[in-house]
This record gives sequence, structure tokens and C-alpha cells, in this order.
Amino acid sequence: MAKKIIQNPRGTRDILPEEQRYFDFIYAVADAESRRSGFDKIETPIIEDASLFERGVGKDTDIVEKEMYTFKDKSGNVLALRPEGTASVVRSYIQNGMQNLPKPLKFFYYGPMFRYGRPQAGRYRQFYHFGVEIIGDKKPINDLLAMSLMWRICSNIGLTDISLQINSIGCPNCRPKYKKQLLEYIKESNKNICKDCQRRAKKNPLRVLDCKEASCQNTIEGAPVTLNSLCKDCHDHFRELLEYLDELEIGYELNPKLVRGLDYYTKTVFEIWTKSDGGQNSLGGGGRYDGLIELLGGKPTPAVGFSLGVDRIVDLLKNQKIEIPATSEKADVFVAQLGDVAKKKCIRLMHDLHMEGVGAEGCIEKKGISDQLKMANKLGVPITLLIGQKEAFDNTVIIKDMQSGNQEIYPREKVVREIKKRLNSAGD
Ligand code: HAM
Repeated sequence: MAKKIIQNPRGTRDILPEEQRYFDFIYAVADAESRRSGFDKIETPIIEDASLFERGVGKDTDIVEKEMYTFKDKSGNVLALRPEGTASVVRSYIQNGMQNLPKPLKFFYYGPMFRYGRPQAGRYRQFYHFGVEIIGDKKPINDLLAMSLMWRICSNIGLTDISLQINSIGCPNCRPKYKKQLLEYIKESNKNICKDCQRRAKKNPLRVLDCKEASCQNTIEGAPVTLNSLCKDCHDHFRELLEYLDELEIGYELNPKLVRGLDYYTKTVFEIWTKSDGGQNSLGGGGRYDGLIELLGGKPTPAVGFSLGVDRIVDLLKNQKIEIPATSEKADVFVAQLGDVAKKKCIRLMHDLHMEGVGAEGCIEKKGISDQLKMANKLGVPITLLIGQKEAFDNTVIIKDMQSGNQEIYPREKVVREIKKRLNSAGD
């Protein structure tokens, strides 16, 4: 009986070479842009103590309550596959004594995140973030720094049809008053909101504002907005930020319904949306989280950051047929051979080329010369090296220029140097 073929888990996918180049391109752009702006790379484990996210992201959030992958390891520790990166970076910041370093500290990171949601277009159970965190400064200029970096990365990737959505959801001083006001309003229209929102209203009424259910839209439309309830500090912070955005001429939309799905946010929240139809429209999001570091056991320290959903950006690039640069690292020469002795010589020649930093590919299987030349053509290499039976015997190599078709015979010991010379002069 044929054995059942094991499939990848639902909501995950293999990123095959054709798609991989999109991911590589996005990471390369985001990495370079972040380093140029003074950010350093940080990497934290994919598994963390589950309580980090329960405390950090919030026990009652969908991400922790419904979507977090938790498990007991063989020692009985309750671990989670990270659903996001901010809580992990903060844990690392506190744990590694970075609280004593001059501020602000600026980090970036990228890698897989895990959320057990219902898989659909743009929503995966394993997906990829490029994230940025600025720790240690409460001034709105840092909110701008995060937003403008996010905007620049998206623009440099080639995205055009995007918009920056922003809002302020206040702080522990002004938010309780707003929550009370919102709750009273929701109670009046209680019958008109979905079951999920009735539950949300009890735990975190702000979450009702970004419910996508049709039955809730009327209620949401008429709801009081956070911006009208901000305390002076939050109000001034937001006003200054908007002035900076105007200065940079980054177009933004004030979105009173933007509240974000993680509990740690204070003051500014923002998302970057695509205007194109289909799938999920939020390509990334972030905000200020001035209370999180203290909540996780550190000294009270303000911070702000964002994460881009890399999978969604890849989907968009592909759907909109946005050209990305070809990968630069590929073979420079193809090594072809005929006969058993030539095959051995060919293996050694490829090794010597690789050791000298020359990209070389070859076909060591039994194939005729014409098939091998077809492969070389397909790869688009400028040079093919041929070792036939005669060359193997004479200890020579034929250098074939693939564009002109010219062939020259070279002594074997001079070939690597000659190839390097030709490739260098071609690159000048
Ligand atoms: P988030 O909004 O939960 O924020 O995630 C950021 C982005 O990840 C989303 O805008 C979306 O593009 C993408 N994303 C989220 N869930 C999925 C999924 N299931 N499949 C595919 N893409 C997804 C955060 O995680 C915060 N840590 C951002 C942040 C950093 N705030 C401050 N610093």
C-alpha cells in the first residue's frame, strides 16, 4: 500500500525559491534602511515563556486568548511560539542589562511569528515580521522616526498604493474616562453588536471599535472617539507628531476606529494599509507602549515600534506584478565535461573556483556536451569551461565566451586566474 504523504500543517507554507527572492528582497531593503537610520539587529528565541505574552500582549486579547500556540516541554515549562516580537525584545532589554545603556536604543528584527487563526488570504498560522523598536524616549519625534522608517521601507520596496492610518488611544490617565463613556454608549446599543463584541465590551470595550462584523458597523459609526477625550499630555504629544508628519509631507489619515489588537499600546497607534482590494489590508502596524517595560519588571521606560507583515507585502508585490531586482549571487561560470577522467578534473576545477570566490555550477551527471551547454545557456553565465577527453589528457581547459562563442585553450593551472581576470574586467 502506498504510504500517505505527510503534508505541512494547515496555515503554514513552504516558501519555494521563486517566492523566496521576494522575502530576501524585502528583508534586504528593510535591513539596509534600518541600519542607515541607526538601528541594530537583535534576535530573540522563537519560543518564550508563555507568561511573557500573557502579561505583555494581554490575557484577554484575541492573540493570546485564542491564537497563541502554547505547549509544555519535557520539563513541564509552559512555553509559547512567539505570536509577535515586541514583548520578546523588551524581555531581552531588561534581562540583558540594557536598561543602563544611553537611550534611546534602536533595534530591528525579523523572523517567523505564530498565531492560530483561521487561515485565509493574507492570514497564516506561521507568518513573518520585520519589526523595529525604539526604547527609552517619550518624545513624539520617536513616533515619527518609527513611522517614517516604516513608510520609507514600504516606498523603497516599490509599494505605491498605501496609506498611513493613525490615531491616539490615550494613556492610563485619560483612557479610563473614555472607556467609561464608550461603555455607556455600547450599553445603549447592546442589542446591535455581535456576540464577540458583547464579550469584548466587558473586557476591553476599545476592541469593539475595530470589529469587522456588518452588524456592528452602525454602532461603531456613532461611537465617541478617543481623540476627544485625550488628556493634555496625550493631546500635545499627538499634535506635535502631526506637525512633524506634515513637515515630512507624509500623507496620513486620522482613523478614530484604529485601536490595535494588543493591550500594551498608549498614545499613538498606526497602521500602513494597502488600498488594493482582496486579502487583508493592513501591511503593518505599531504604536507607543510606554507602560510595557515596567509591566514586564523593568524601570518605567517609554518606547515605540512597529512590525511589517512580510507575507502580505510579498502577496501584494506579486499581485500588482511589481518588479523586484534579480538576485545578484549566482553562478558566473558553468563547467562542462565529457568522460570519466574529465569528470574528476571538473570536480576539482569547480572546487578551486569556489575557493577563489568564483560562482561555478556544473553538471556531473552523465549528459552530452550539447545538453550541458543548454544548461549553461539557461543559467545565463557569461563563460563556460569545457574539459573533454583530450583536455583531460593534455591538462588543459577550453574557455568558451558564451556571448561571442569564441573558444580558447588554456593550461589548467592558469584557468582560475584567467577567469577571475575576465570577471573582474567585466564588472568594471
Ligand atoms: P500586529 O498588528 O499584530 O502588530 O502585526 C503586524 C503585522 O503583521 C500586521 O499588520 C499584519 O500585516 C501582519 N500579520 C499579523 N497577523 C498575521 C497573520 N496571521 N498572517 C499574516 N500576517 C499577519 C504586532 O505584532 C506588534 N508587535 C507591532 C509592534 C511593534 N508594535 C510595537 N512594536
